[in-house]
Amino acid sequence: MTLPHFSQAMSPDRAHTGPEPGEMRVRTWHLGDDRQSLVLASRNNRLPEVVYWGPPVGGSSIDEIAAAARYDVTGGMQDEIAPLSLSPEASMTFQGQTGLTARNLDGEVIAPAFLFSHEEKQQNTLKLVYQDNGLGLSLTLDLELTPHTSLFKLRTRLDSREDISVDWLAAPVLPAPDHTDEMIEFSGRWCSEFLTRRLPFAPGARVRDNRTGRTDHAHFPGLIVCSKSASNTTGEAYAFHYGWSGGHKMVVEELADGRRHVQFGHASGTMEKGKSFETATLYATYSARGFNGAAVRFQRHVRDHLVAETRQTRPVHYNCWEAVYFDHDVDELKSIASLAADLGAERFVLDDGWFGHRDDDTTSLGDWVIDPRKFPDGLTPLIDHVKSLGLEFGIWFEPEMINKDSDLFRAHPDWLLGALDQTPGRQQFALDMSRNDVRDYLYDHIAAILETNDIGYIKWDHNRVLPVADAGQAEGVYALIDRLRRVFTAVEIESCASGGARIDFGILERTQRVWLSDSNDALERQRIQHDAALFLPASVTGSHVGPRKCHTSGRIFDIRFRAWTAAQRHMGFEMDPRELTGEEVDVLKEVTRWWKDNRDWMMQADILRLDSADPAVTAEQHLAEDGERFVAFAAQMRTSDQILPRPLRLTGLDASATYRVSLANRNDAPRLSRGEPLLKSRDIDVSGQYLMSHGVVLPWRFPDTIWVLEGHKL
Ligand code: DGJ
Repeated sequence: MTLPHFSQAMSPDRAHTGPEPGEMRVRTWHLGDDRQSLVLASRNNRLPEVVYWGPPVGGSSIDEIAAAARYDVTGGMQDEIAPLSLSPEASMTFQGQTGLTARNLDGEVIAPAFLFSHEEKQQNTLKLVYQDNGLGLSLTLDLELTPHTSLFKLRTRLDSREDISVDWLAAPVLPAPDHTDEMIEFSGRWCSEFLTRRLPFAPGARVRDNRTGRTDHAHFPGLIVCSKSASNTTGEAYAFHYGWSGGHKMVVEELADGRRHVQFGHASGTMEKGKSFETATLYATYSARGFNGAAVRFQRHVRDHLVAETRQTRPVHYNCWEAVYFDHDVDELKSIASLAADLGAERFVLDDGWFGHRDDDTTSLGDWVIDPRKFPDGLTPLIDHVKSLGLEFGIWFEPEMINKDSDLFRAHPDWLLGALDQTPGRQQFALDMSRNDVRDYLYDHIAAILETNDIGYIKWDHNRVLPVADAGQAEGVYALIDRLRRVFTAVEIESCASGGARIDFGILERTQRVWLSDSNDALERQRIQHDAALFLPASVTGSHVGPRKCHTSGRIFDIRFRAWTAAQRHMGFEMDPRELTGEEVDVLKEVTRWWKDNRDWMMQADILRLDSADPAVTAEQHLAEDGERFVAFAAQMRTSDQILPRPLRLTGLDASATYRVSLANRNDAPRLSRGEPLLKSRDIDVSGQYLMSHGVVLPWRFPDTIWVLEGHKL
């Protein structure tokens, strides 16, 4: 990175670089498209603030908008309202969370007063550079509006002439406009990722500080700010995502004067001493069409722009983890692969247990050498078998981790991140990924496996939180993945972290799939998938049919529910296929065939969450990008309170077009469904308006079952 040139003399008297008394300079900027506008204004060369964010401002003059946006001043206030700028400053008497918190090396707080230096503006990008010459600081604000997907990509960079210590640097700060009164934030846990919580705004700050050093189950870095009435399909929503895998901090604050703002940056403790600091990318977008309007932009951005090139057709996975765990035996694995191939699998993933002496989770992480006890002739016989069945071969690694019982630890105890006597997590410790020697070691060992075996896929795991929050750790893993990808260009990577603990747009720039959750419980998956769709497209979201009796919940669900749930995303299997009954095999083959017939358009479709009139039903509609077809999945999550199924209202259709609607699994109606809803016996031809206003009348069904509704425009 080149350090900026400080254009003016480093005068300690900063007043000389500001405006003359009485002088008022207003600068304005606009970034926008046909879906949203963001208007910035600055006065007196100070940092700009967002004076408008919402639907396109059309013919209005930007300068007039900036002038019209000025608030009044009354009793009990400062004489000037401190701007809620892209990096609010204490030097402007801003009394909330500032955009930058820094100290000099004597520990004294620095309160910069940034002044405009220069700008670079192109159609969809704006770079604003501000300086505090007295302090030798430069603040660069990068704003970009993505042309197809209408997402603002925002980054802040701070450069300093001297070494300083930075505690907090926010990506460009955006307001939560005054008409929004609620926020939806994300929490979760192992086997229950992407839990949403809807909260009202209240005076003061809501702070989410994820110090786990990874994205984590409990802290997906997302936020939606909306009006009380906003739903999946209607109302206004402002959605945010911080694209970073190293832990983040979110501050949503309502100031004493009533204004609200949203800040995202790295987690506390991850910024340290130095001369240059940069946030990750904050993605933000305004939607006039409920949460779906924003969700579709995030989904499309991940699918079409962010994720490194994928082979167009997503293969059906088979992952052996829940079938054999660490118990790897070549003949057994071969016979499992044969059965999986017969079910329709196209990629076989050999999970944890193939290296070192890894018979359980106490040992061998770091020793990335094939275990000769389990694979006396290496992986080749298994790979050859898998390939002879027509499947691709994939393999599991957990590169950033180390067990104390490993040759690597015995050779390099100093490579461990944090204290030697720290509490382990899943019996393991993290390697210090900021070290070049650690990364070189990992690169060499992973590359050796990839060079000597025909491997098309890596499942890249990360099974514990870090002992210290450290941005260098995320940067280190990004560097390692980038290096591997430059050489092994055809190898796809899945991001896994005890399920979905590393899902964010930072890791998705380098990987092609995420393992959403270790829960293969179809009911839990329905909820997790539904909420993850606020950001994730189907094409990257792994979903597997697990064992009949779920290993993480102990529940048993019918194969139909399990299979259709996996068919809503990037489909795979994870049970031991030897446990399947003949009927289960038939159902699984049929649903897998259906998925293969539909995957090409479905993996390119938008997932629209439906506002189900029945809270017992979770429903979503996959709408083809050209609008010509859709499939809706309506899962009965529990018994409904009322006896009659409430019609399911669809969304995003052409109101005046006629659609032919059919029930793909109409034979699944139980005996207790005794009536004659039309869809039980034949297709119906109705208008988009009818489908969106009245909705589809579905047959009655048991809890833990699902209806699959297909529609084509006629
Ligand atoms: C956690 C992952 O989420 C599982 O799918 C599996 O790969 C195990 N780790 C292996 O240790």
